[in-house]
Amino acid sequence: MNTANTSPFQAQDTQVVPESHTSHEGTAHRPINIHVGQFDQQPENAKKKAAQQVKISTENVHVYYGETEAIKGIDLNIYQNEVIAFIGPSGCGKSTFLRTLNRMNDTIDSCRVTGKVTLDQQDIYDPNLDVVLLRAQVGMVFQKPNPFPKSIFDNVAYGPKLHGLARDKYDLEEIVENSLRKAGLWDEVKDRLTQSGTGLSGGQQQRLCIARTIAVSPEVILMDEPCSALDPIATAKIEELISELSDQYTIAIVTHSMQQAARVSDRTAYFHLGDLIEVNSTEKVFTQPDHQLTEAYITGRFG
Ligand SMILES: Nc1ncnc2c1ncn2[C@@H]1O[C@H](COP(=O)(O)OP(=O)(O)OP(=O)(O)O)[C@@H](O)[C@H]1O
Ligand SMILES: [Mg+2]
Repeated sequence: MNTANTSPFQAQDTQVVPESHTSHEGTAHRPINIHVGQFDQQPENAKKKAAQQVKISTENVHVYYGETEAIKGIDLNIYQNEVIAFIGPSGCGKSTFLRTLNRMNDTIDSCRVTGKVTLDQQDIYDPNLDVVLLRAQVGMVFQKPNPFPKSIFDNVAYGPKLHGLARDKYDLEEIVENSLRKAGLWDEVKDRLTQSGTGLSGGQQQRLCIARTIAVSPEVILMDEPCSALDPIATAKIEELISELSDQYTIAIVTHSMQQAARVSDRTAYFHLGDLIEVNSTEKVFTQPDHQLTEAYITGRFG
């Protein structure tokens, strides 16, 4: 599939679902070939997505850990300014697939990625590509908040310094303040910027990590279960933040909380054993899923 010169509304994310997935629970009437992106042609959630453009595209992406195939050929378009949630049972490949989108899998020795991933139609696996720059453009927030053992200020200033984004000290201060404001943390930390980032609460640390990601002006933010270590109040803050950030950034979030996916995402992608089974508007996935595997998962029959 080459989406480079195609309208996003024409592009389809085609996923061939192996027969074994449809061979039980009386699904003989179900087609085996499912065009999981068929609803891309009629985006239901028009929120702020006036001019949807493909931001990231994956084409026939396979990921192997040694001999084991963890991702089995995934085609997916992620549109600019959308929030897309990745859901599915533990071990189905959500994190592995998320990491292919900014080449974080490169850091795992046994891991091999094949297929094509583009950001703004540029191949991110091009050997000449600057991976450090890519990871600034496609930032990542992890499950467990991981601030550097540095001051709050330096946590946020680190990336802009590394990438030479600030002209001078004042410019750097402005970037730090703006990033902390966008991450909804400024008011809580403005009087303690020199204190260690690791001294913040878990929820504050996660917002600090989001500020650190924002500080290098990313275009896409990948989040791997960003709230799983947080209490409900801190979770609500992050979810609110995700909605605000989606005005400016494209966000892909892995979550085990279906309520969270329903609250924050425009579209939801359901993964199963390394396959992308279905991707549709979040409302559709949770009310009228196309595939019985999705339905079984969202109704709690497995996973
Ligand atoms: N570093 C690794 N080395 C070898 N195998 C791995 C590695 N990381 C993941 N895997 C395997 O790849 C498959 C997908 O794992 P992945 O972590 O992507 O799943 P997940 O959907 O994110 O699960 P969870 O919901 O539990 O986080 C699993 O079978 C897992 O055991
Ligand atoms: Mg995971």
